[in-house]
Amino acid sequence: SASYEHILTSTPKPGVGLITLNRPEALNALCTPLMTELNSALSSYDNDASIGAIIITGSEKAFAAGADIKEMAPLTFSSAYTSNFIAPWSHLTTIRKPVIAAVSGYALGGGCELALMCDILYCNEKAVFGQPEIKLGTIPGAGGSQRLTRAVGKSKAMELILTGKNFSGKEAKEWGVAAEVVEGGLEELLAKATETAETIAGYSRVAVVAGKEVVGKSQELSLREGVEFERRVFHSLFGSRDQKIGELTFFPGFGDGWLILLGMTAFAEKKKPEWSHE
Ligand code: CAA
Repeated sequence: SASYEHILTSTPKPGVGLITLNRPEALNALCTPLMTELNSALSSYDNDASIGAIIITGSEKAFAAGADIKEMAPLTFSSAYTSNFIAPWSHLTTIRKPVIAAVSGYALGGGCELALMCDILYCNEKAVFGQPEIKLGTIPGAGGSQRLTRAVGKSKAMELILTGKNFSGKEAKEWGVAAEVVEGGLEELLAKATETAETIAGYSRVAVVAGKEVVGKSQELSLREGVEFERRVFHSLFGSRDQKIGELTFFPGFGDGWLILLGMTAFAEKKKPEWSHE
């Protein structure tokens, strides 16, 4: 696999791609070279047919302490505007496979925003979230004002973004930012994230990608448009091999020929499906 300077990649379980932010000297501050590597690793996993779900994590002490303040300090309006500073961070939101954030320690500023971009967020009780940009004389720049507000509502988001005060892992769970707050340290957190990633990776890829796409659309569209979009995608899955009804498919290519039980067929026959991912 590729070797990176600021991140580590591994596959803790079949089908699960793990990306560990690894810039401990700066509490995983998200400098441009780190983000370039993260984007590259995300694309590699997205394009790798053996991977079904991706996890992004950091260290016990820091998921990521924000954008790199030292890199940002000399920027001017003109340089930030013409280089479209931070725009490449949105690459994460174009990944088709589910991305799980496993947050221990600091997830501040851009670190909080990166976690909010992920599809499922798990944290532990050591997690410290916040949008402290106001303390630096600026505002969130990687989607925090939009995604945090969708997650916690306007009043709470205003309070958090305008005071810059941190919030805990427990509060993240209570307010709907996190799907779960896991007891214990990074190890227990990663065990939970890996278990979920493995479950997702065990399903038909085409159904998983469709499920992610339709839930994602709920954040962008009106209810009516969203429901109509969902129905279209639902209809389209009748065209996938994995969903096919009432038919046992024979694949002569595999050994002596395998009987592959597809989604609805397997259900009717009370058997475990063998996904073709088609
Ligand atoms: N950028 C660059 N370097 C950072 C950093 C950041 N965001 N956060 C931490 N570091 C560096 C520190 O400078 C320090 O480096 P040196 O040893 O070379 O001095 C090292 O990481 C360790 O940090 P601390 O000594 O500060 O560790 P601590 O345990 O005392 O404090 C902390 C931890 C409370 C998280 C503190 O580091 C901190 O407040 N960091 C900045 C958090 C922040 O403001 N983030 C928002 C950035 S703005 C942003 O993200 C914009 C956006 O919306 C995209």
